[in-house]
Amino acid sequence: MRRFLIAGNWKMNCGPKDTSTLLQGIGNKMETMPEDVDGLVCPPTISLTTASVELQDIEGIALGAQNVHYEDNGSYTGEVSTQMLNEVNCEYVIVGHSERRQYFGETDKTVEAKVNKALQDDLKPVVCVGESLEQRKDNEHMLRVRKQVEAALVSVDKDQAEDVVIAYEPIWAIGTGESATPDQAQEMHKMIRDVLSDLFSEDKADEMRILYGGSMKPHNAEELLAQPDVDGGLIGGASLKADSFTEIIEIADELS
Ligand code: 13P
Repeated sequence: MRRFLIAGNWKMNCGPKDTSTLLQGIGNKMETMPEDVDGLVCPPTISLTTASVELQDIEGIALGAQNVHYEDNGSYTGEVSTQMLNEVNCEYVIVGHSERRQYFGETDKTVEAKVNKALQDDLKPVVCVGESLEQRKDNEHMLRVRKQVEAALVSVDKDQAEDVVIAYEPIWAIGTGESATPDQAQEMHKMIRDVLSDLFSEDKADEMRILYGGSMKPHNAEELLAQPDVDGGLIGGASLKADSFTEIIEIADELS
């Protein structure tokens, strides 16, 4: 049985000071997580140590990074390694977010390398996929996302498949206030699960979590999370406020 994963991608928001404030706010609202929901926050790299300390007081919310390099160490200015993320207690890492693909030259190839490196070093990759508005208008969205999923996971071992989380994030829904409809999300998530089933096995695909991301807010979370193949959310804007983030966690709990 898949558990909901409610994840906050804080993007380039919250230095160490604001990280403490936000996590204390979340902690005040929610001393322990609902039993059937997993929580995750992904602050900027510079705030991971602070977050790791704050999270010691909040049971059930894991820590994740927003990016990682695929080499162990070396001359890669500005990058962080899996080992560094292990050291500050990260359990997850976001890989291939559309903003990294768009602004920082992330490709299907680097995403594949990062997914493999993360798994090798005990980090669960949250692999982001999603189409542009143009691709959807041209009716290429299903094919585009299928290709992204296949490219990211092509060399993942079947035994590690359940540590991979997929996040479907239509680019046109990110930060726009216009989320996918529940039907659009379900259609895509079902296709992604079929791809996972082809890559690994039906049983494995049944265990793997597929999150929806793109303007998920308290007002639309219930209808999205109620879809059979939507196993949680990767939340940007609404994860930066303790109220809205914890509200979405409560909605997931009610649906569990
Ligand atoms: P918003 O929830 O702000 O649309 O961001 C979604 C996102 O990109 C999460 O990774």
